[in-house]
Amino acid sequence: MTTAIGAPLDRVDGRPKVTGKARYSADVPMPDMAYACLVNSRIANGRVTGIDTSEAEEEAGVLAVLTHENLPRIASQPPLVPSLAGGPAPGETFFPMQDEVVHYGGQHIAMVVADTYERAQHAAALVRVSYEESPPVTTIEQGRDQAYEPDAIFAGFIPGRTERGDVRTGLSQADVQVEATYTYAGNNHNPIETSTTTARWDGDELVLHDATQGVNATQLTVAALLGLPLSKVRVKSQFVGGSFGGKAMIWHHPALAALAARKVGRPVKLALTREQMFTSCGHREVQEQKITLGAKDDGRLTALRHHKLSPTSPFDNWAEPSLNAAGQMYACPNYEGVYRLFRANTMTPTFMRAPGDATGMFSLECAMDELAERLGLDPLELRLRNFADVDPASGNPWSSNGLSECYERGAARFGWHDRDPRPGARREGNWLIGTGMAAACYPVTPPNTPQRARARLYADGSVVVQASTPEFGTGVATAMAQVAADALAVPVDRCRLEKGDTDFPQIAAAVASSGAGMISAAVHLAATALRDQLIAQAVADSTSPLHGANPADVVVRDGVMAAGSASESYADLLRRNLQPDAEAMGTWNPPPPDTPYGMATFGAQFAEVAVDPELGLIRVRRMTGAFAPGRVLNSKTVRSQLMGGMLWGLGQALLESNHMHPATGRWVNSSLGEYLVAVNADAPDVDIEIIEVEDGVVNPLGVKGVGEIGQVGANAAIANAVHHATGRRVRKMPITIEDII
Ligand code: MOS
Repeated sequence: MTTAIGAPLDRVDGRPKVTGKARYSADVPMPDMAYACLVNSRIANGRVTGIDTSEAEEEAGVLAVLTHENLPRIASQPPLVPSLAGGPAPGETFFPMQDEVVHYGGQHIAMVVADTYERAQHAAALVRVSYEESPPVTTIEQGRDQAYEPDAIFAGFIPGRTERGDVRTGLSQADVQVEATYTYAGNNHNPIETSTTTARWDGDELVLHDATQGVNATQLTVAALLGLPLSKVRVKSQFVGGSFGGKAMIWHHPALAALAARKVGRPVKLALTREQMFTSCGHREVQEQKITLGAKDDGRLTALRHHKLSPTSPFDNWAEPSLNAAGQMYACPNYEGVYRLFRANTMTPTFMRAPGDATGMFSLECAMDELAERLGLDPLELRLRNFADVDPASGNPWSSNGLSECYERGAARFGWHDRDPRPGARREGNWLIGTGMAAACYPVTPPNTPQRARARLYADGSVVVQASTPEFGTGVATAMAQVAADALAVPVDRCRLEKGDTDFPQIAAAVASSGAGMISAAVHLAATALRDQLIAQAVADSTSPLHGANPADVVVRDGVMAAGSASESYADLLRRNLQPDAEAMGTWNPPPPDTPYGMATFGAQFAEVAVDPELGLIRVRRMTGAFAPGRVLNSKTVRSQLMGGMLWGLGQALLESNHMHPATGRWVNSSLGEYLVAVNADAPDVDIEIIEVEDGVVNPLGVKGVGEIGQVGANAAIANAVHHATGRRVRKMPITIEDII
């Protein structure tokens, strides 16, 4: 029997998106709308000594100018916990405009509300601010001596230090050692849709339209900040124009929009500018990682030491978890991973595209390439010799793995085995040609709260599933129609997901590639419960042809229940009983943290580059990725996500970089013109193989997620290919022209 799950169906939201019908948070029309614009700190460290709003207030159309002197105090600052928990998730444990202190460049220091966007923007430029300025801490060099080892990072979820075995003993047993230090630029998310909140008060009830990865996280955070009962805050989010982790945490602007709307007594739209996106929604931190590998002559690892140093904000111990997947990747008995932080004049960094592993696996996989070269081993062979049969971090079996097949299939598709290992050996005209590979690993992180969905079948046979999740570009609406169709055994074009509203059953914020797994779990359980309920109703109904049948013998096809020669459709059952619809809830309780399995998604990445050593140009000519993401819900959207991830990896390897001016503490390239991302001209032929592995642990359908695994290792494969082409090891991202010439 063919199933809807896995089919390469077109996106159900494709047409509304390309025709402009899709409504994003900034597109929600409201009568009497007012517009807020934020004023940001020009300095990165110090305090506001005076703020003159008189000129701004006199401008036509200006309704309010809010500063730390007159903005209401927040009720409480919620703790910094990942929105993974569905819970309150401020991006940092700091709320602006509560006092005169400036912690970082671009901090919100005033907000102007006017009757048009243009008037608000103009008046914002007229707010006169004077400062007392202190030199900011901005660079790793400044922070190195003050660095400390935090107890935990990543909102307390990950320990600051992890050890197994004894790394010094392991190094003493090694025949060969590789030690290398890697530096990474800060990165910014840069989704096309800038973060926007439209806020409206309906009496004492607040309605927000917010660009977010989790409406419940916005609801919980804003309710805590404003001291409102949860039942008085409703959050909607129909379409989100990309996110990449920048809309996972709930930053300041949703609560600021609500406060502005209350102040002026009108709905308020607050849309961040592109420049503000660099200083209002977190970023991937600049960082330095040092790896030491010890190995026997045959390549088996005896020791892996991985240290990271990075700046965090004055208030939170945040580092992206760069050491985690890297610590789980290989069977190495002696391991030490240590995070070190220093306080800098920056906002709290945050999740960003393959948080942690996009950098940590780069360090590991480039160091493995160096080790392979030192040992005279093929890089792929070195990895096979260190294959982790069980999760090295816990000793537990993998819930599913598939890495060997990824290596094998990826290498075959790419043509890896024909490779001449000598660096600089292949030349085509001015171009030096090289190939490189890397492993990919990204953790499967189930949410730590139950996930719910509702399934409803109408008497006309159509099906609606409801879940609070927004759609931020992943294809969730399409995939969930497929999941519901299979569970109910109805045609997929009769199924639709209603989403993006806190009035629907709760789904946690979709972070860490967890969306498809957790939402499909809730939808599958809800639709299965509805199917079972309808079958039970039919066999108990004395007027149904199915009356008296054993429920276990009933099979459903195209919405028709059948047992032997007797049959009745769901729709007929409802119509005969004058029921307009039937519905059921599904609740998924995710596997708890002590589940005795290692849970991760694996893959293998291959890249071919051409390097012009005189001009310093690097062109990625082709990429192959093989991934084992568990069950595939929609092969088209899955392939698209993996392809997008691989191109993120290309962008990170060669282009993406936030540049901070060390003296001022301000980003100097806060625009899409100067923050370089990969565009179509940079995108090579991307070849993808998906290896479906069965996983009975992670969630009911065995979906491990594909949102981020595509990026992991893609950058390292490119860096390793650059070395193979040129003989030069560039231990940083991005690799730029200056690193080559
Ligand atoms: Mo994703 S970068 O883990 O929100």
